[in-house]
Amino acid sequence: MSSGSEGVRETQGRLLEKVLEIVKREQLVTGIDPSKKVIEFMHPEELKSLLALNIGREGVDVNEASSTLEKVARYSVKTQHPHYYNQLYGGIDEAALTGAWITEAFNTNQHTYEVAPVFTLVEHYMIKWMVRLFGWSEGDGIFSPGGSMSNMYGMVLARYKKYPEVKQRGIASLRPLVALTSDQAHYSIGKAASWMGLGMDNVVPVKTDRWGRMDPEALKEAVKEAKEKGKDPFFVNATCGTTVLGAYDPLMEIADVCQEEGLWLHVDACWGGTAIVSRTYKHLLDGIERADSVAWNPHKMLGVSLQCSPFIVRHQGLLHESNSASATYLFQQDKFYDVSYDTGDKSFQCGRKVDAFKFYFLLSLHGLDEMERRVDAAFSASRYLSEQAGKREGFRLVLEQPQCTNACFWYIPPSLRGQQEDEQWWQKVGKVAPKIKEKMVKAGSMMIGYQPVPQKGLVNFIRHINTCYPTPTHEQMDQVLDEIERLGADL
Ligand SMILES: Cc1ncc(COP(=O)(O)O)c(C=O)c1O
Repeated sequence: MSSGSEGVRETQGRLLEKVLEIVKREQLVTGIDPSKKVIEFMHPEELKSLLALNIGREGVDVNEASSTLEKVARYSVKTQHPHYYNQLYGGIDEAALTGAWITEAFNTNQHTYEVAPVFTLVEHYMIKWMVRLFGWSEGDGIFSPGGSMSNMYGMVLARYKKYPEVKQRGIASLRPLVALTSDQAHYSIGKAASWMGLGMDNVVPVKTDRWGRMDPEALKEAVKEAKEKGKDPFFVNATCGTTVLGAYDPLMEIADVCQEEGLWLHVDACWGGTAIVSRTYKHLLDGIERADSVAWNPHKMLGVSLQCSPFIVRHQGLLHESNSASATYLFQQDKFYDVSYDTGDKSFQCGRKVDAFKFYFLLSLHGLDEMERRVDAAFSASRYLSEQAGKREGFRLVLEQPQCTNACFWYIPPSLRGQQEDEQWWQKVGKVAPKIKEKMVKAGSMMIGYQPVPQKGLVNFIRHINTCYPTPTHEQMDQVLDEIERLGADL
């Protein structure tokens, strides 16, 4: 690198321009041409030698640094590609990226008004906005580093509400605490129990129906059983949009059980919570207004960049009471401005990334009508895909209709059709999805996930996910089925 501060400044300016050039050239926010590859796959050792990562005593020159950026562009997965349907996140909207970049460039900490005056007010505004969006007249919240952490925030607050003394004395004097969640819930509930000293064995998996929705009667029974064993149920997690089947748990009935039993109701709406912005689909979340806390990940479906994970809670002041440590070097009470805006002590973290601004910027630029249009399009495309798969020879639906934007189905290649569908046959069917995935990734044409659901005796099936941005079309859904047929025909 050219020596002297002038040289360094000039080089870095050129690199920033290079990044912008790549983002525009690769159409990362403007819509990638679907004929381009989603991924140029390389095995790790191959990619390692190509990247030739190295840090020396002398820095590299601007050309070499640019070449590293080009390698990032070439070998990274284009999650913005219209045929990226792999996981519960995807493209990034231009407004969200702009919001993220300006936030990054100001590199500050979402803990005090002193260092983040604008971002503090934006987070404050967004939390109040979400409190109303989810149907509460008052509440509080925080942007946390991911849905898993938000779920743990829910569990921590539930425990604190029931046993405030735990904050100082720990859990040693308590009976074993029990958390209940459906057998289709995200694994972060188990991890939270492990981190909090409850132990994963004290997370009770509640039975679900064939759609993957928690059975409220089974919940009631599980609470009773836990009590009979001398344990102390305190927390129920209901899911809106389960990871695999996209199931929405029946919140009203679950809320009734929680009310009767005096249990905290946390709703993991990380995935399916985005339906709240659609007048057509928000009914899926009916009852969420009865929750004590909610986790939502706009980074999953809404085109906000990772991470964007608001956690909101109905009980004003509880986050602060439960989490504050009152560090005197940061949260001095004798500052010259209104210190109620120093919200960082509500958090487990000290330094905290600013995640609210990009979300605010996206919503304020496009408006809620546009968000609704995108959500409706994603839900509609998944329903169309499932309907078409149900009509095509060789496809078999796991469920008749998607609940969220997860469309789940098997592809039965010609070599397995017309045979007796016994255990052995299903074992063979279970090997099809991984093979199609491999061929797809090597061709670079699409990315779609697969998995089994052992609790329901389901072997590997394809789980196709639509997110809201880039907005999926029915034509793309037809292309998905064509591509699966093409890749699976000779298996
Ligand atoms: C239903 C559900 N909840 C929580 C999470 C965890 O969110 P995060 O990946 O932000 O930790 C996921 C992740 O996919 C999820 O599907």
